[in-house]
Amino acid sequence: MGDFGLPVLGHMIEQFRSGPDFARALYNERGPVSWYGSPYMKAVAVLGPDGTQEVFTNKSKDFSQQGWVPVVGAFFNRGLMLLDFQEHHQHRLIMQQAFTRTRLAGYVEHIDTVATDVVGQWPTHNSRFLLHPAVKELTLDIASVVFMGNPPGADSAQLTKVNQAFVDTVQAPGAVIRFPLPPFKWWRGVKGRKLLEEYFTPRIQGARRQEPSTDMLSVLCNAATDEGDAFTDKDIVNHMIFLMMAAHDTSASTMTTMAYHLAAQPHWQQRARDESARLGDGPLDIEALEKLETLELVMNESLRLVSPLPLAVRSTVRDTDILGHYVPKDTTIVVWPSMNHRLPELWTSPDEFDPERFAEPRCEHKRHRYAFSPFGGGAHKCIGMMFGQLEIKTVLHRLLRRYRLELTRPDYQPHWEYSGMPLPLDGMPITLRPITP
Ligand code: HEM
Repeated sequence: MGDFGLPVLGHMIEQFRSGPDFARALYNERGPVSWYGSPYMKAVAVLGPDGTQEVFTNKSKDFSQQGWVPVVGAFFNRGLMLLDFQEHHQHRLIMQQAFTRTRLAGYVEHIDTVATDVVGQWPTHNSRFLLHPAVKELTLDIASVVFMGNPPGADSAQLTKVNQAFVDTVQAPGAVIRFPLPPFKWWRGVKGRKLLEEYFTPRIQGARRQEPSTDMLSVLCNAATDEGDAFTDKDIVNHMIFLMMAAHDTSASTMTTMAYHLAAQPHWQQRARDESARLGDGPLDIEALEKLETLELVMNESLRLVSPLPLAVRSTVRDTDILGHYVPKDTTIVVWPSMNHRLPELWTSPDEFDPERFAEPRCEHKRHRYAFSPFGGGAHKCIGMMFGQLEIKTVLHRLLRRYRLELTRPDYQPHWEYSGMPLPLDGMPITLRPITP
């Protein structure tokens, strides 16, 4: 069952405009498995938690990550998410060493140093301050230290170029003109990717000669499994570029959604701030961040309502069936966890912001194993989940310690655009009022 949609455009406009609500309309009209069109592909939408479970757990190994290639392959070639089966397993085992608790503890220290410094410089009493571009810049600054090993505050013409190349590469998958035509997004992305490759290659050779340090580049250069498997220089370039992309917009989007809801719901803001006050202003560590339970609830509720990766793409490697529907080989599959996050059969008043739904005794996220899966599931479940959560909590903690967050008008409603990761169309104006100790 399904239809292409408008000639040439397919269902692109509805999908870009309403993301998970577009998928919810498909689900209500056509059930859990149906097909739809877009300018670059026809795809089978798999909707609802049972279908999500079938595709993510991939017991039959019928679903390949190559479905992602037309979307991000030109820019994130051979990143972990684009590898399959045995090869993916081998690479994931090596990369796992960059995400152990000891490693994460080291990253948190750096994240906290950068976040404290940058958040402290944000302008106050300014109703034109836009939170989303500010947190994007902050997460780039964090990446420069934590991923690339630059000293905090490092600034150079080369780093500015690298940051721009990175931004171009991240934005390129959302391009409408999907071939390298100057000066459009896809072309800028291809150029950006090339510059990043040229930047990382000599640095990897340098990092291999130096004493190991705690940044991700150095960790990946020195990571090996018990069997002695390690990454080649080329693998590290590919993984670094993908990791930085995977970490960047996802965390910035979640921080923005959280800040909006905290500004819109002052009692939740106060509750989170009271917990932060109990931690005080000393350096943060993982144990301290784990105590921020209110921020955890708000983070989950924000990830539910605005999931940074609203969908996941696969392709079928052989004829298969999904929930009893025949699906032929080489079909693109799109799974929509973000739609499951809005199903009334799983969530009470699903469109409302209600963080308490994640707490005892309600625990609505446990109504189905795949009711809540903002970080995916199965073999490709987000490897940076803990990293992302720690980074987000660190930034929000520092923000709440310094400022009261206010909407620019009491009836302000953000509008999200879904051409890539969800973005607030207006940059999310939020006014920061300093808190006097
Ligand atoms: C709020 C933050 C984040 C969200 C919501 C998120 C979401 C996701 C999702 C849904 C997937 C699965 C994609 C699929 O099934 O095809 C994924 C994979 C991945 N993520 Fe994240 N992510 C976040 C942060 C991060 C961070 C901070 C990093 C790195 C430091 C990271 C690195 C990765 C990698 C490498 C993969 C591929 C894993 C694999 O294929 O084995 N992510 N992420």
